[in-house]
Amino acid sequence: MNGFFKKNKRALLVLVAIGLLSIGGALAIDLSNFNEGNQLAQILSVEINLLKTWQRSSGLTNNIAYNSKGKEVVLLQGMLSQDLEIYPEKKVTGYYGKLTKSAVLRFQKKHKLPKTGMVDNVTKEKLNKNFLSFLCPEPKVTYPDFFFRKITKTSQALPEDYTPPSLKEISGSVKTIGVNCLRSNVLPYLEKMFNGAQKDGVYLAVTSGYRGHKIQKYLYDYWLRRFGSYALSVVALPGKSEHQLGTTVDLTDASVGYKGVSPRFARGVGAKWLIKHAYEYGFIMSYPEGSRRKTGYRYEPWHWRYVGSKMSNFLHKQGLTFNEALTAKPKPFPRKDLKKGLKLSALAAISVFTGMDGKEHFLIEKNIHKALPIASITKLMTALVASDIYKGDDTVKMSETSLSGKGISGYYSPGDTFFFKDALYALLLASHNEIASAMSEREGVDNFVRLMNKKAVLLGMANTHFFNPTGLDPKAGSDEINQSTVFDIYKLLKYISENRDDIYSILGKKEYRLTDISGNLKVDLHSTDKLLSDGSAVLSVLGGKTGETPRAKTNLAVVSKAPSVGRVVSVVLGSPNNFSDMRNLLKYIKNSFVWQSPSVFPKSDFSE
Ligand code: DAL
Ligand code: ZN
Repeated sequence: MNGFFKKNKRALLVLVAIGLLSIGGALAIDLSNFNEGNQLAQILSVEINLLKTWQRSSGLTNNIAYNSKGKEVVLLQGMLSQDLEIYPEKKVTGYYGKLTKSAVLRFQKKHKLPKTGMVDNVTKEKLNKNFLSFLCPEPKVTYPDFFFRKITKTSQALPEDYTPPSLKEISGSVKTIGVNCLRSNVLPYLEKMFNGAQKDGVYLAVTSGYRGHKIQKYLYDYWLRRFGSYALSVVALPGKSEHQLGTTVDLTDASVGYKGVSPRFARGVGAKWLIKHAYEYGFIMSYPEGSRRKTGYRYEPWHWRYVGSKMSNFLHKQGLTFNEALTAKPKPFPRKDLKKGLKLSALAAISVFTGMDGKEHFLIEKNIHKALPIASITKLMTALVASDIYKGDDTVKMSETSLSGKGISGYYSPGDTFFFKDALYALLLASHNEIASAMSEREGVDNFVRLMNKKAVLLGMANTHFFNPTGLDPKAGSDEINQSTVFDIYKLLKYISENRDDIYSILGKKEYRLTDISGNLKVDLHSTDKLLSDGSAVLSVLGGKTGETPRAKTNLAVVSKAPSVGRVVSVVLGSPNNFSDMRNLLKYIKNSFVWQSPSVFPKSDFSE
């Protein structure tokens, strides 16, 4: 299509017109095979089909006069129908009769063209130009730049006549399905993202870019008419669509046959790639899976808003959508009496909020420098040190020795071999001790433990000492027990969450199918961190690590979303019930601080 546009500018104008008409539903389009779930995809594919048909017939190139018949007349009537003053009858018959002629005359009068009553060269050009400027208009009214505007169901609607500056037709730069426009200064970032994806064998395309207020209204009205209230969860009201900003795209990819906005897209390589990488290019998903209660919209893995890469990196780290970040409040200040209300049975506890300005706010402190046994929380450090030694595709082999220790899970046999990247899940999700032992053997267990202690020093964990890579209790009477403080574990977990996505992302997984290097399923792993799948934690837990031995009792270290923009890292050690302590602690944090409005908001690296 790109080549086509380059060759034939006039046809482009006509394609634009066709696209608009199909969005508007002005033509007799057979939509009878619509089914729930992919309706939006089909609406847009109708547009695409028409575009293709028109492309094949090489556009509205002929002059049209009274008595003409056919597709071009259909197109003309559709175009005229867009203006009620011009063609109030809106009849799309394919026959150029009296009504069409009158409409053409009115069009010519309105635009001060020779009143011929037929579609001659000047009339045709004017019609096409009008439609291009409908799809890719220039601003007529000056507004502040709404680049960072909050666009939600409840926020103030964008003005009907708001048009973003410097819209540009983009099909010459990136693959598009149909005609699409974007702000010209967003386009280079989209191009970079498409190129990045292509290097990974992912071929993306834009199905929808800028949508003016009127186009959004067509879509919305159409959906509402056809699907009733279901429409409300898939199409934004005019004025409330991020597409009106000119910074937002709906994407598709080759792996799903370039099918437009469809639930199928989520299963293809395109959505998977975007979820992993789009933030690196400044794009952020607006309607993630499971966020319908918050956003009011169903999962839209295809809908990406450009917010600049500083902002998108920040949001990605915080696990926030852009609108959430705007709504949230970043700073906690104690309000209620801190001595009352929080009952913790853990021997030590800490909770620290880090806002987007990077400042730490200590919310809860109980014996934060008291050294206590940490049990399997040890494995956070085991993972860090092991990933300095192994690459993801290196292998970890279960030895007789690793399986002869105590506290083993019983799932493995000597000789079982795993890729390191998979073994990490067994280490961190299910806390398998024999995996920790096997990982440490390549370096020699003693040396491995030395490296763990060295890393602890590097991270400023001043009151931490490791004796083994598992966290298991030593023999009775021995003091050689891995110990640390809640303050040190906080530092460790904060470091991992901010710097080691490879490890941190595993801490947030509830389950994983562990296969050996030949692809044979070994065990279905489940996270030991119950708070991950537990809706009763008031602050949603993003990831964590548990620990439990007879001498350590139960421990837990978690990262959770703050009630405002930022994260809270909390640790309890020496608890009779780590989960209930942590639940109480998170509840207390939510209710006992005033979470104040943002004073700092990261500036985008985007500039006009
Ligand atoms: N589909 C999204 C919500 C929009 O219409 O902007
Ligand atoms: Zn969209």
